[in-house]
Amino acid sequence: MQYRRMPIEIESPEQLGYGNIRYNLTESSVADMRLEQLGIDLDVRRLLLSYTDHVGNPALRERIAAEGDGLTIADVLVTPSAAAALFIVATALLKEGDHLVVMRPNYATNLETPRAIGCQLQPLDLRFEEGWQLSLPRLRELVQPQTRLISLTNPHNPSGAVFSQADLEAAVALAEERGCYLLVDETYREMNYGSLPPLAAALSPRCISISSLSKSYGLPGIRMGWIITRDAALQQLFLAAKEQIFICNSVVDEEIALRVLESKARILPPILARNRQALEVMQAWMARQTDMEWVPPGGGVVCFPRIKAESGVDVERFYRLLNEEYGTYVGPGHWFEMERRYMRIGYGWPPLEELAQGLENISAALKAAGGQGGG
Ligand SMILES: Cc1ncc(COP(=O)(O)O)c(C=O)c1O
Repeated sequence: MQYRRMPIEIESPEQLGYGNIRYNLTESSVADMRLEQLGIDLDVRRLLLSYTDHVGNPALRERIAAEGDGLTIADVLVTPSAAAALFIVATALLKEGDHLVVMRPNYATNLETPRAIGCQLQPLDLRFEEGWQLSLPRLRELVQPQTRLISLTNPHNPSGAVFSQADLEAAVALAEERGCYLLVDETYREMNYGSLPPLAAALSPRCISISSLSKSYGLPGIRMGWIITRDAALQQLFLAAKEQIFICNSVVDEEIALRVLESKARILPPILARNRQALEVMQAWMARQTDMEWVPPGGGVVCFPRIKAESGVDVERFYRLLNEEYGTYVGPGHWFEMERRYMRIGYGWPPLEELAQGLENISAALKAAGGQGGG
């Protein structure tokens, strides 16, 4: 493995120091939660801090399996986060020289871990002009007879695009036809503004679904995620990888995760309602911008607008002013291997007033860097 730190992690707000950022529009999750906010009363002193079932707490796996038609607890492996799940899948399935097709832009790890392994990585570049949608014709061209894995993220990070059921089913059919695996990173699946996207692992044993509690529930500090696949032999391989890295999960994290999912019907709706409010703030602001353009998101709590090429904005000056003069941070395009005029705005994490002011600061910095500025 050839490890290298990724810009998105080096420049992340927790690494810069939350105290140094006044308007934080970099986050990709809802606001971080406390157990008391979630109405969960848990006395950790009573938990026996033993090793646990290597596959994961059965009651928790049952809750996770219930989300997909025809899934059972045998299909679910609980992992310490989606990041760990992605690492397990990549290192279990791929070796140096293997060919895979990975959507780009993407959550950086989805590209970086296969690179660290030394894989032949073929990016599937999503385009602003195509609404950040999955292009089936291009995907078909890129998949080779020797392709081992197709890797998608739905809902998409950084754009918030949600792929149609038909496109996802076509990708599944392609993986089946070509005999490769289809990984779908579904970390944002529960946050969407239309209908719930299908859980890919329920569609075919060729599919591997990854998710976690970090983004939709605001719980990145308990590292709880999972891998779902109906391919039992593959799940055993993932278990072998998990055992070598972690043996089992944290008892405390699993207990919290179980309590949260038991109360999902109570916990999730207010979070989703709050996301809609934040999206309205975002939409109202975008409608007033002359220097920026976007594709409105269909899910998640991020979007990926760009500074118009003809705006006259000096992009480097814009970021400098935004960070240094306005104390405002967004996720610049280079975090996602894109031009820096693209930026990820996380609208679901900050309080609404912080979001609104952060957006106004973007308008002001655009104007000061040579643009027209928003109204
Ligand atoms: C698409 C995607 N997958 C996985 C992760 C990792 O999430 P976790 O906190 O569960 O490791 C992230 C975090 O940003 C993400 O955006």
